[in-house]
Amino acid sequence: MVYGEKPQTHHIDMDTPSVARMYDALLGGVTNYAVDRDACNELLRIAPSTQLLARNNRAFLGRVVRYLVEEHDIRQFLDHGSGLPSLENVHEVAQDLYEDCRVAYVDNDPMVHAFGRTTLDENDNTMVIDADMRDSEDIFRATAEFFDWKKPIAALFVSVLHCLADTNNDRDPGAMIKRVATKLPAGSFLVICQLVSNNAAVRTKVTQLMDEATGGHWGRVRKPDEVRAYFEGLTIIEPGLVDVVDWKADTPPPPPELRATDWVEWGGVASI
Ligand SMILES: C[S@@+](CC[C@H](N)C(=O)[O-])C[C@H]1O[C@@H](n2cnc3c(N)ncnc32)[C@H](O)[C@@H]1O
Repeated sequence: MVYGEKPQTHHIDMDTPSVARMYDALLGGVTNYAVDRDACNELLRIAPSTQLLARNNRAFLGRVVRYLVEEHDIRQFLDHGSGLPSLENVHEVAQDLYEDCRVAYVDNDPMVHAFGRTTLDENDNTMVIDADMRDSEDIFRATAEFFDWKKPIAALFVSVLHCLADTNNDRDPGAMIKRVATKLPAGSFLVICQLVSNNAAVRTKVTQLMDEATGGHWGRVRKPDEVRAYFEGLTIIEPGLVDVVDWKADTPPPPPELRATDWVEWGGVASI
């Protein structure tokens, strides 16, 4: 078994930190345990900008959903690795603009499923799927009737690919992205960002810490060019692939002291 290939358990493991609960803790949420907060503190010791990254990433998610609804009339969202309910969940942002927007949330963390059933699966236009995001065929089957597969869909992979290992088979993140891009109807979009660093020591230290902390539910911090490769064959829209704080920012760029330097969430949006 390689990193990131450990099957997720179906019970809530309160002794091992989970990526979903750690992210919730970093965002200031309350759906997490002491083990998750301790692991966040360890992470903050070696990568102090981690909390800033989580918040910047969540703001990017809201911005990108708003942009796709407003500028491209996207009404359907397939959110891979949706995370625990938080501020500005995808359906809240999208349905605030157009109430018939449909959102399917996919996550394999049992806590996300438990809380998602009440907070994310809120109306007839939302659904929560308990699945590994790499099980694309299962996800397509689960959403066969939910989405209109003749109309554009935005597939979101926001802050999730670093949870997945590289493999030489169809479990590889690149293979998964290709499968989804091939399945999506014309006019669809892909949103991809993940944690990257140009500093080899940061990549190694964070990857080791997260792999150990989560008991193997982690992939790796990548280099920007490795993320660029996931966009091969797709049309990247302006402003290109960037630190997500710079992606169509609706506020002035953060001053240097509020910018992460050791690692960043990096990516962008492509049309199909
Ligand atoms: C950092 S959170 C990102 C949440 C949300 N996308 C956001 O950007 O606000 C990563 C999420 O991916 C989920 N995840 C990790 N590996 C997964 C997998 N193989 N299949 C489905 N979900 C996964 C975790 O459970 C967690 O909820």
